[in-house]
Amino acid sequence: MAGKLEGKIALITGAAQGIGLAVATRYAAEGATVVLSDIDGDAVQAAAEGIGGSASAMTADVTSEEQVAALVGEVVAQHGGLDIAVANAGIATVQPAVGMSLADWRKVTSVNLDGVFLTLTHAAGAMAASGGGALVTIASVTAQAGSPLISSYAAAKAGAVNLTRTIAIEMRDHGVRANAICPGFIDTELVKPHKKTFADALGLEAMGIPDFDAFIAMKQGRYGTEEEVAALATFLASDRAGFCTAGEYNLDGGLRASLL
Ligand SMILES: NC(=O)c1ccc[n+]([C@@H]2O[C@H](COP(=O)([O-])OP(=O)(O)OC[C@H]3O[C@@H](n4cnc5c(N)ncnc54)[C@H](O)[C@@H]3O)[C@@H](O)[C@H]2O)c1
Repeated sequence: MAGKLEGKIALITGAAQGIGLAVATRYAAEGATVVLSDIDGDAVQAAAEGIGGSASAMTADVTSEEQVAALVGEVVAQHGGLDIAVANAGIATVQPAVGMSLADWRKVTSVNLDGVFLTLTHAAGAMAASGGGALVTIASVTAQAGSPLISSYAAAKAGAVNLTRTIAIEMRDHGVRANAICPGFIDTELVKPHKKTFADALGLEAMGIPDFDAFIAMKQGRYGTEEEVAALATFLASDRAGFCTAGEYNLDGGLRASLL
């Protein structure tokens, strides 16, 4: 049976590990030719080799316009076009907004917002030149609510969602669709180092909640998986999602919907 992305050329940023790697793996399994990109050249090379087949790796820092332009140009030159781009690269730091330096603020917003801007706009330009395509932004539920200790992350994600929506409208007549996925907590390397800080800041021990994992189990049932994000990213990139554009899709076990 033909895969859902048969014959498509897909570029995924931040694909050396975590959600990006899961998306690339699923896209390849669905018949796409995947280009994995990451700031970590060795890791992304190993990730592409792990997928095998026609998967390949390119090193690029999404905060550099020069590097993103070269990345998109290289994908088009090597594969004859670009059908799908996933703006997935992201980082997180944990500290209160008040007292944060502008440099610390920009460390996160440069990757999570500027990086999305560069990825989406350069990819959309290439797609429009060859009849259209699909953009998928990996945002976050933190885009939708105040998010203590991760202000720069949440503000950048909110900006990324709105930017995705805007590009979707601007590019509709060029055949380019753009959608954002807003995952709740997925147990990746982005989250793992910060669990204790969150647990302490939330005062979980005093509430009789043993740790951050138990808190997540209360709030969203369990951690989501990278593969679950990849499944939604596959649908949104596929031709079956032809009428889906400018959307914001929560994938959070109900986290955002609950007040208590
Ligand atoms: N894990 C979660 O709970 C969660 C929830 C919602 C959204 N997200 C988002 O999903 C995306 C992937 O996160 P993850 O959990 O897989 O994290 P991760 O840390 O496992 O992977 C992030 C990848 O991005 C790469 N990267 C970082 N800076 C980069 C740059 N400047 N240029 C290119 N690549 C860069 C890293 O090298 C890494 O391979 C991020 O945008 C993150 O904000 C994650």
